[in-house]
Amino acid sequence: MSTEHVTTELRDRVLILRLNRPDKKNALTQAMYTALADELKQANENPTVRCILLTGTDDCFCSGNDIADFLQMKTITPSDDVPVLRFMKTLAHVAKPVVAAINGPAIGVGTTILLHVDLAYAGEKTRFQLPFVNIGICPEYASTYFLPRMIGHVKAAELTMLGEPFTAAEALDYRLINAVLPDAEVFEHALAKAQRLAQQPPAALRTTKALLKRWRGDLVDEIIPAEAVHFMSMLQDAEAKEALGAFLQKRKPDFSSFD
Ligand code: COA
Repeated sequence: MSTEHVTTELRDRVLILRLNRPDKKNALTQAMYTALADELKQANENPTVRCILLTGTDDCFCSGNDIADFLQMKTITPSDDVPVLRFMKTLAHVAKPVVAAINGPAIGVGTTILLHVDLAYAGEKTRFQLPFVNIGICPEYASTYFLPRMIGHVKAAELTMLGEPFTAAEALDYRLINAVLPDAEVFEHALAKAQRLAQQPPAALRTTKALLKRWRGDLVDEIIPAEAVHFMSMLQDAEAKEALGAFLQKRKPDFSSFD
């Protein structure tokens, strides 16, 4: 079910799923992951919905996992279905097309989500970033598998190991998105594409999506928890505690004393 931080609107058989926590730059909490997973599951089962449009607020798509929530997370085993993993797997397996409309920061899972949607449009001022190492953890959402295969090892290493922001033009160059648009036009453009998909023959669309994704099949279900075991465990370690504490205290982290 939706919460105040995840809102839904059905327009022309397109379910608009909006991250709506602008005061925290749409950082994702456990409750938001649960709401997103529930909404995606319902949309997948509801014949009225033909396409899902995932978006954020005007000046921000998503600043990644909520940092304060990160500090509360426990270590897991690969079989645990915690809210974040349920969300990841549900989106990865939605049978209907998913379109993303992105503006402003798209950080962490806000970027890796692109590996699991079907069409993605970003505003020219969008900044993508994979700062997992910067905060003492490793990348997630099967990005350690897909990124090197999509953009090559050295580029994947650059984006994940240095963890520096990259532009929408660069994301287009890496084929992570379909097009870069003026910021004010992103949502309407993405909605028009989603509405167009909603008019396509639905069974043909679902079969095409399933075939396009067939090669990744069980891999996604295997890789998502395998990465998660590492990042959940690393969240308990001193490097992450230093990085996350520094963010909340609005200071630079200091890793100089770690081996
Ligand atoms: N988790 C929790 N709170 C977050 C957050 C996150 N991931 N990202 C931003 N916020 C909060 C800030 O703490 C701040 O809260 P406050 O007003 O109560 O102090 C508010 O959102 C605004 O963020 P701020 O940093 O002041 O905005 P900005 O425009 O200068 O920068 C970002 C925006 C997204 C670039 C920056 O906040 C950022 O880098 N966030 C962390 C991203 C991250 O490392 N995510 C984890 C990825 S694995």
